[in-house]
Amino acid sequence: MDATPMLRADAVEGAGVRIRRFRTEDAPAVRAACDDPLTQRFLPALPRPYTEADALWWVAEGSAAGFATGGGNFAVADPATDRLIGGIGLMHIQEDYGSIGYWVAPGARGRGVATAATRTLSEYAFTCGYGRIELRTEFENAASQRVALAAGYTREGVARAAGPDRGGRRHDLIVWARVAGDPPGPTPRHLPDLPGGELTDGVVRLSPMRAADAAEVHPVRSAPDVVGNTVTGIAPGPEDTARYCARAQAAWLADHDVRLTVRDAATGAFAGKVGLQLQDPQAGQAEIDYYLAPTWRGHGYAARAVNLLCGWAFTRTAVERLVAGVHTANLASQRVLERSGFVREGHERRRIPDGSGGRADIYTYALLRPGV
Ligand SMILES: CC(C)(COP(=O)(O)OP(=O)(O)OC[C@H]1O[C@@H](n2cnc3c(N)ncnc32)[C@H](O)[C@@H]1OP(=O)(O)O)[C@@H](O)C(=O)NCCC(=O)NCCS
Repeated sequence: MDATPMLRADAVEGAGVRIRRFRTEDAPAVRAACDDPLTQRFLPALPRPYTEADALWWVAEGSAAGFATGGGNFAVADPATDRLIGGIGLMHIQEDYGSIGYWVAPGARGRGVATAATRTLSEYAFTCGYGRIELRTEFENAASQRVALAAGYTREGVARAAGPDRGGRRHDLIVWARVAGDPPGPTPRHLPDLPGGELTDGVVRLSPMRAADAAEVHPVRSAPDVVGNTVTGIAPGPEDTARYCARAQAAWLADHDVRLTVRDAATGAFAGKVGLQLQDPQAGQAEIDYYLAPTWRGHGYAARAVNLLCGWAFTRTAVERLVAGVHTANLASQRVLERSGFVREGHERRRIPDGSGGRADIYTYALLRPGV
């Protein structure tokens, strides 16, 4: 194997950012950004609290150390003012393989700084001989997952118990990588964002599920008549639902699973959930599921939600077939599907637990892309 690649540049210009070595005058901005609650939440290796002394050590000594071993820690600066707006580092792991990490000052977030800095450092590192750069994100850190996608990284899997918590426990991390020769991004997605962030027909409104939805989602998701129609038949606990909601964005960005809350469009009241799981992108098939809280049943809300979701899937994704499985005794749900144009295709015997130790049959339904 060739010698370790070395990052020798003092500064590299990118699109809208400059990455450069840290300087003493950066210390106050480093301190403020690294003591910010979001930075502290997602970079648990940083000292807490992050003091002036920590920042002074970092700009003078800590940041420089990585360059000696093939990596490098750069300040991310506004190219117009050279003012520090973030930090980005590449850690050399072995041979031509490294790992990237970053933070952006709170006032500079949400305008492409992390994406531009990640592209700039990744591409510079490839020119220095790196062949593979990894990036690891927490499941709850959707902004960082979006940075990875925007900067051309591909989701490769989950590294279990790879991330240490401040409390001494460990948590799973999503692993992304970009290898030399990969396109600069954005990485294409099978399940894109909703146009304008939500779907509505004026009566119901569908929005991507968030951590904050858990308190409303849980009582319905764990109710016996909802659990009885699932593949496992096992009621989730409150912690499971909290995780399910908090990780909804990660599941979507992984191209696995769209989870939407259904709300009354007029009042915003929580009515239920509708979702889509992409079973096989190559085969173009996805499965939908839905449930409503009892008080919202019988008003056509489920069919409206299913219609909106199916319309989005057939106009914004490459899905050709939407399928659903329904308990043979669940006439209300069969009616929802039939009202939305689904056709019954099959009868799967003993497919799901029946809640009393036996197994229950389901009917399978499908809706094809219109015009085919
Ligand atoms: C993660 C972080 C670096 C992103 O910085 P940023 O400069 O705001 O990122 P960008 O402006 O390049 O945005 C990248 C994407 O994230 C999205 N985004 C930004 N803030 C978001 C948020 N709070 N929730 C969800 N998405 C968000 C943007 O819309 C954009 O998505 P798009 O490419 O699909 O349009 C910043 O939030 C941060 O410093 N967090 C704390 C430290 C951290 O998490 N580091 C990474 C550890 S793995």
